Amino acid sequence: IGIFTIAGKMKIVEEPNTFGLNNPFLPQPNRLLPKMPPSPPSGPAHLFSLAGKCFSFVESTYKYEFCPFHNVTQHEQTFRWNAYSGILGIWHEWEIYNNTFVGMWMREGDSCETKNRETKVLLICGKNNKLAHVSEPSTCVYSLTFETPLVCHPHSLLVYPTLTEVLRQKWDEAEQSLYDELITEQGYKKLLKKIFEEAGLLRATEEMEMEKQNKKLKSLEFETVEKCNKEYKKLYKEIKRLKDLLTQRGIVYESNSAENTSTKHLIHKLVTAKTSVLNSSKTNEHLHGETAGIWNDTF
Ligand SMILES: *[C@@H]1O[C@H](CO)[C@@H](O)[C@H](O)[C@H]1NC(C)=O
Ligand SMILES: *[C@@H]1O[C@H](CO)[C@@H](O)[C@H](O)[C@H]1NC(C)=O
Repeated sequence: IGIFTIAGKMKIVEEPNTFGLNNPFLPQPNRLLPKMPPSPPSGPAHLFSLAGKCFSFVESTYKYEFCPFHNVTQHEQTFRWNAYSGILGIWHEWEIYNNTFVGMWMREGDSCETKNRETKVLLICGKNNKLAHVSEPSTCVYSLTFETPLVCHPHSLLVYPTLTEVLRQKWDEAEQSLYDELITEQGYKKLLKKIFEEAGLLRATEEMEMEKQNKKLKSLEFETVEKCNKEYKKLYKEIKRLKDLLTQRGIVYESNSAENTSTKHLIHKLVTAKTSVLNSSKTNEHLHGETAGIWNDTF
């Protein structure tokens, strides 16, 4: 900013500068741009009153701000022109253990080395709403403790009472199956995870997994032609198996009459077939075991 005095009047002129300070194309430490929107509020309804509020805590040169169901940010308390301000996490999902809401995961914060900053906020009973403690148990993973009278009742953080009738019934059935030894402890945990995802308490990972798979496939490269041929045969067999499975179940799937035999195309078909099986399994309980098998066997 240049200040000129012209005929007694002060004029403030915005000037382009050469230091990149106002250059919108350079990474800016203070922009606080979230990577994604927060999840909708979920969990115990009596905590929803905290949404839209923010609580701060100052430790040494940093101020931490926790906005329940929205974000966690960090602000360097200094007069330096480039003081750091950043996002330590966006409200993502609950951490659930033993039928109890243990903490709020705020994920996808500012990037940090190879990953994004994330923060777990533990909720503990206290006299007033207050951010009470901050630590960094591992690099770029933060832990905050939030005290609130809202969680003092011994049942205030139980998961089961927050679920709909339908989901409670699903949980009961899973419990019964475990008791009858129809499913393993691991199978039970998987079912619970699904129930929690359906309730919006956990963010479903299916889409994220698909994205990861797609990225993996894009970077699929073979050192030798021989290896490529081998993979090609394997994929061909796998597609046939999946097609047979779909036909057997009378499930209509996308099919191209003009057979394109490039590896890329095969891979695409494999993913499509898998998606069909997965989608159909959502409406067909009996397919669950098989689809899980397909995912685990192949990748
Ligand atoms: C954090 O959440 C608060 C409260 O909902 C909101 O006003 C603020 O814009 C959010 N900040 C970022 C960087 O998302
Ligand atoms: C699980 O929670 C119940 C109360 O809800 C408690 O009695 C039990 O000790 C807890 N178990 C573990 C392993 O933490």
